[in-house]
Amino acid sequence: MKTVLITGISRGIGRSLAERFLAEGYFVVGTSLSGGVDLINHNLTVLKLDLRTQESISSCAQEIVKSGKNIDMLINNAGVLLDEDETTVVVDRLRQTLEVNLLGTVDFTERIVPVMAPSSHIINISSTAGSLEQVGKTTHFPGHYPSYKISKAALNMYTRTLALRLKDKGVVVSSVHPGWVKTDMGGENADLSPADAAQQIFNFAISKPETGQFWFAGKKLAW
Ligand SMILES: NC(=O)c1ccc[n+]([C@@H]2O[C@H](COP(=O)([O-])OP(=O)(O)OC[C@H]3O[C@@H](n4cnc5c(N)ncnc54)[C@H](OP(=O)(O)O)[C@@H]3O)[C@@H](O)[C@H]2O)c1
Repeated sequence: MKTVLITGISRGIGRSLAERFLAEGYFVVGTSLSGGVDLINHNLTVLKLDLRTQESISSCAQEIVKSGKNIDMLINNAGVLLDEDETTVVVDRLRQTLEVNLLGTVDFTERIVPVMAPSSHIINISSTAGSLEQVGKTTHFPGHYPSYKISKAALNMYTRTLALRLKDKGVVVSSVHPGWVKTDMGGENADLSPADAAQQIFNFAISKPETGQFWFAGKKLAW
């Protein structure tokens, strides 16, 4: 049985991803801030993880490494959007955003890399909001949410650098835009359900794509 590790499965896209992978016969290790999730399945383990603190990242990763499981897929899904629609950078919010979307995610990933199985896949859930190509061109909130955009652009660079590093080990690393999804973050007007987004991400995750690329619905996106 293959194992997928998914961060942030308490709600939104992460919760639907956990449900999708369980339905596809995977063993799911999921994380939540509280350590609890309203999903019960004998193939699901839930661990506490707060990406804002090194202690939490370290103890969660240690528990995974100690379990002796090899990870076939790591999906870095947990993330925050803390900007309040402003166009200027509020430095405190930028710091808090980077702490979760970049630094915590990188720290956690680096601790999991040694237990990634050969030919495994690391997926960083990014956003077209972080695309340097699309900024200013996109119809979605041009100029707004700067901290979030900066964090996802930086996460994309992590995808590129990690992909180069892990290429010889056969580990694929991807950035994935999930679409505009009806969650606490995406809001009610978004066009995809979390279940549809999860299905699309699942299909992509098992597709053995070219490493170090940015994707949406199986198609390459410009960085
Ligand atoms: N929704 C969209 O339209 C959209 C579009 C593009 C990209 N994305 C990306 O997709 C991913 C999932 O988004 P979503 O819409 O499902 O968001 P969401 O509904 O707000 O859920 C966010 C998840 O991240 C977890 N999380 C938040 N802060 C955390 C922290 N400090 N440590 C660990 N986990 C933390 C939350 O856990 P708790 O419940 O325990 O707080 C929750 O499980 C994010 O990376 C987001 O940037 C979303």
